This record gives sequence, C-alpha cells and structure tokens, in this order.
Amino acid sequence: MLIGLREALDYAEQNNWGIAAINTPTLELLLGTLKVAERYNVPMVVQHAQVHEPVNAIEDIGPVMVELARRSSAPIVVHVDHGETYEYVERGFAVGFNSAMFDGSRLPYDENVAQTRAVVELATGRGFGVEGELGIMPGREDGVESSGTADETLYTHPEDAAAFVRATGVTALACSFGTVHGLYKAEPKINYELIGRLREAGGVPVVMHGGSGLSCEEYRASIDQGVRKINYYTYADKAALEAARALLTEKPGTYVFSDLTVVAQAAIEKDIDALARCLYRVA
Ligand code: 13P
Repeated sequence: MLIGLREALDYAEQNNWGIAAINTPTLELLLGTLKVAERYNVPMVVQHAQVHEPVNAIEDIGPVMVELARRSSAPIVVHVDHGETYEYVERGFAVGFNSAMFDGSRLPYDENVAQTRAVVELATGRGFGVEGELGIMPGREDGVESSGTADETLYTHPEDAAAFVRATGVTALACSFGTVHGLYKAEPKINYELIGRLREAGGVPVVMHGGSGLSCEEYRASIDQGVRKINYYTYADKAALEAARALLTEKPGTYVFSDLTVVAQAAIEKDIDALARCLYRVA
C-alpha cells in the first residue's frame, strides 16, 4: 500500500528505525526491494533519482513503481530522489509519486531556500512531504564523480539546518556528516555527535545519503542520533553486477540477457535483506 513520507518517518521514530530508501531505476532493484519490505512487513521508500533518467525515464519506470507499491502488502513511499528542478518533481507527481526530495545543495543558500520552498508549496497542496538538502556530499547517486571521501569543510552546520528548515518547511533534511555517494575509496568517518546536533537544531528527521558501504554498527549508531531515512543504492546494484558476472564465468554458454536479470534480482534481494535486518533491528 502507498503511505506518505511523514507516516513512514513517524513509524521510524516510534521504533527507532532507519527507513530503507532504495533507488530502483530497474525492475530488478524494484522487485528485490519490495520482496524484502513484504518479508518483514516494514515501511520502505522506493525512489527514482534524476541522474538515473538515462537508465529509465521517470515516465516509464515511475508508473511501475507506483503500481507495485499500491499492490504491495508492505507500506511503501514512492519518492523523487535528488530532483534538481521544480519541473522534475512535477513530472514525478504527474505519474503518481507521493513524496519528493529537492536537491538545491549546490545552489547559493538563498536560491536553495527559494527553490526548496517552492517545491514544498507544490507538495503541500497535495498533502505530500518534502526532503531538502543542505551541505554538500561528494559523489552522485549514479556512482560517478565520487572521490570516495567526505570533506569536513562541507559538513552541514546545525544553525544553518535550523534556519533552512524554518525558511522552507521541509519534512526531513539530508545533511552532510561524513558519508559519500557511491563507492568508498577510504573508510567513511561519520560524525555522530554532529548528527545529534543537526536533529536537535533542525527539529526534523535527518536523512543519510550515501548509505552504501557502512557497517551495521555505523547504521545503528547514526539511527540512534536521529537518522530516520537511509538512502541506499550502489552496493545493491553492484551485487547485481557481480552475480551477473559470476553467471557468465560459470556458464559461458549463457546466451540470453534475461538469465542475468534472474541472478541479479536474487543478489539485490540478498543485499537489501541484510540492510533491512540491520535498519529495522530484526533479530
Ligand atoms: P549510495 O549509492 O552511496 O548507496 O547512495 C545512494 C543515495 O544516497 C541516493 O540518494
């Protein structure tokens, strides 16, 4: 069933969970994710990032995401991830998405506030929540451009987080505190104390981007400080690629692409299952 972002975050708050928010630009990622949400009957976010348009356009994969979320026995939010323009968020809402992130983190502060505020107004009219972003996180959700290390000078300041939430009315805030998008080239160094201060000053749930590659202890310590949504993509899709590669090595006679999608989906499901057991504190 479809649920809203606020509702999902409330569940997370009540249970001290981090909601798994998975980018699902392919059917394998989408089906693998929903199977795990249904297995544990936990809320999850399925999301489409603007940088994944070359994989599948939001008008193509989006209606599939919405329909499968509606049909699912688990509570699911369908969310625009890293919308870089107002128009892109509108495209998501037009195909049935019920939540969005506007990413103005690379804009000058005042411009980020103005554009995020406009997206909040668009979403509020429909009863939807909005995630904003303040503070730059290296790398992009498609795995390119990542230096693999976070730059502490770009971390979000708690006073700025407070002012930004007040000025925009966002439901949740993506902040920079030590994770990066894509593959880690150096050990991630999360500033837990900063997460706590951001949660307190901003007064809204904190979103972790660049969720791939952390240990369960790192996820749980972040959740304990106020992270309620954990964006995750690269390692699930990497597991899919590795499974496909292994199949080609073991069975060089494989001659149709669909055989790769079967092992890819199973690998994604296994990877997301491990993440879910950690984030939802399944024994
Ligand atoms: P990873 O690809 O590093 O898991 O990050 C995903 C993300 O933050 C999407 O917004």
